[in-house]
Amino acid sequence: MKRNRMKVDIASILVLLFAAGAQVTPAQESHIGGITGEATRGRHLYRRYCVGCHGPLGDGRGENAPWVDPKPRDFVTGTFKCRSTPSGELPTDEDLFKSVTRGLVNSNMPPWLPLTEQQRADLVAYVKTFSSRFREEKPSAPVEVPSEPAADQQSIQRGSELYQKMNCWSCHGKEGHGDGPSAQTLVDNRGYPIPPFDFSAGTRFKCGESNQDLYRILMTGLDGTPMPSSSSALTPAQTWDLVHYLRALQINAKYSKASSPPRTGGSVALNKQLVRRPEHADLF
Ligand code: HEC
Ligand code: HEC
Repeated sequence: MKRNRMKVDIASILVLLFAAGAQVTPAQESHIGGITGEATRGRHLYRRYCVGCHGPLGDGRGENAPWVDPKPRDFVTGTFKCRSTPSGELPTDEDLFKSVTRGLVNSNMPPWLPLTEQQRADLVAYVKTFSSRFREEKPSAPVEVPSEPAADQQSIQRGSELYQKMNCWSCHGKEGHGDGPSAQTLVDNRGYPIPPFDFSAGTRFKCGESNQDLYRILMTGLDGTPMPSSSSALTPAQTWDLVHYLRALQINAKYSKASSPPRTGGSVALNKQLVRRPEHADLF
C-alpha cells in the first residue's frame, strides 16, 4: 500500500515538473504589433526553413553554413546586427521581425515574405529561445530618430567633413568604395573577414533602406562587426549631415548600380516565389 502511494507521488511530481517546463515564459513569445508569436509553433517552421543555415542548435552551423559567406547568424550569443536599440543590447521583437521579413541584402539570408506575419512572429519567438540573454536581459528603449532636416548642399558638405573626422574613410575608403586602408584586415566577432560597405555599389543596407534606417545604423552600429556606433560622438544634427553625405556618395558614384535590383544572395528558388506585399513597402 505504502509502495503504491509512493508511485503515485512520483508520477504527480513528474507531471508537475513537466508542466513547469512547458510553461510559456515571456522569452518564448514575441509581440509584434497586435500579433503574439509562439516558440512552439516557430520550432516547426524553423526546422523546415532555417535549420539548413542556422543549424538545429541555432549556432549558425547548419549543413549549408560552410558554403555561405557571410556566415549564418549564431543565435546563441544573442548578438544581432539590425537593432533599433543601443550598441551591445538585444534587439526588440520588432527588429528581429523586420530582419526576417526583409532578409539581409548582400548575404544568403533571404527575405521571408512568403511566410505569413503570424509565422514570422512565431519564428522570432523561437529564435529568441536559443540565447539565455532573452530571458535575463531587457533591451532599453529604441534609439530615437528625430525628424529629418533639409538635405541641402551645406548639410552634405558638413557630412563630408564628419566622414573624414570620424575616420569612416579608414574602412569605407575616401570615396566610400569600401576600400579604406583597414578594409583588408577587418574580421567579425567569429574571426571571419568582413568587407566594409561599398556605398557606390548598392542602394539598400542590411538593416533597411530609408534615410531613417541609415540614421539608426549610425547610432546603433552593427554588433558583431567592426562597424561602430557613433551615438556618443555625434549630435542628431551631425548624424543627419552624415546621412546626407552618404546618400550623395551613392548617387554620385561613377559605377552606381542604383537601377539594378539588389542582390540578395542564394536561395534563388525561394526568391522566385517572393511576393512584395504592400504592407511591407516600408521595409524595401
Ligand atoms: C540560405 C541560408 C539561410 C537561411 C535558409 C536562413 N538564414 Fe537567416 N541568416 C543567414 C545569414 C548568412 C545571415 C547573416 C547575414 C549577415 O550577417 O549579413 C542570417 C542572419 C539572420 C538573422 C540575424 C539578423 C541580424 O540582425 O543580425 C536572423 C534573425 C535570421 N537570419 C533569421 C532566420 C530565420 C528565422 C530563418 C528561417 C525562416 C532564416 N534566417 C533562414 C542565412 C540564412
Ligand atoms: C573599423 C572599420 C569601420 C569604421 C571606422 C566604420 N565602418 Fe561602417 N562598416 C564597417 C563594416 C565592416 C561594415 C559591414 C558590416 C556588415 O556587412 O555586416 C560597415 C557597414 C556600414 C554601413 C552599412 C550598414 C548596413 O546595414 O548594411 C553604413 C551605412 C556604414 N558602415 C557607415 C559608416 C560611417 C558613416 C562611418 C563613420 C562614422 C563608419 N561606417 C565607420 C566598418 C567600419
